[in-house]
Amino acid sequence: MKILFVGDVVGKPGRQILRRALPALVAGRGIDLVIANVENAAGGKGITREVAEAIRDAGVGVMTTGNHVWDKKEAIDYIGLEPRLLRPANFPAGVPGAGCYVARSARHDPVAVINVMGRIFMNPLDNPFHVVRAELEAVRPEARVVVVDFHAEATSEKLAMGWHLDGAVTAVLGTHTHVQTADERVLPNGTAYITDVGMTGPHDSIIGVHTGAALQRFLDGMPAKFETATGDPRLNAVLVTADAATGAARGIERLSLSTADVEAQAAGAGAA
Ligand code: FE2
Repeated sequence: MKILFVGDVVGKPGRQILRRALPALVAGRGIDLVIANVENAAGGKGITREVAEAIRDAGVGVMTTGNHVWDKKEAIDYIGLEPRLLRPANFPAGVPGAGCYVARSARHDPVAVINVMGRIFMNPLDNPFHVVRAELEAVRPEARVVVVDFHAEATSEKLAMGWHLDGAVTAVLGTHTHVQTADERVLPNGTAYITDVGMTGPHDSIIGVHTGAALQRFLDGMPAKFETATGDPRLNAVLVTADAATGAARGIERLSLSTADVEAQAAGAGAA
């Protein structure tokens, strides 16, 4: 089974390259399920119904989020209507939405997706290391293949989650920093791991934001209006290959596709 996990989709540049890339990527690589972190997909902050539906229609089966999940207020109501849109499972009890969803792959195998958020340099939620275990226990009877999106800032916390779940889940994939790390590997007991999948959005930017305003804040410490950048859209993702029967990962491949790469793929698919 092949699962594509797309790193944080940022604004319109991110949505556009995602929509353009997916058909050829899914067909060309035999991908069975696409998961994407969408917490910055609407205008660079948050998620709306319209944007979530467009991402779903582009071929994304499960959408994860993180600290920006509620930035667009309509998400608070919408998340209750769309179980394929997750928020971190370690929000306190009673918060709308859920942190886990069991999807079906193209071959009808169940795939559980769990979304948890870190606590280092972030607003602290419940302990993600305990919450993820509880979510896993609840979902285990339904799915062998389990993908965890660990939305966190600190590399140490993310690595700790990888080792915490090694052998218990198919993949622990880090999101949130928008900078793709080159440490993808399959851990000794069969869990695919990467500290951060990266960003699907404008890479001529400071983590998706226009460089001018973001840099100005470092220069003078004053508030500045952040706008989503537009230059050099790239699709950052990982392709996880898993054994559907056991849930063990067989491999993890890192992708960072430029607009030119995506257009070449689309042209190739059209010619085939
Ligand atoms: Fe985030």
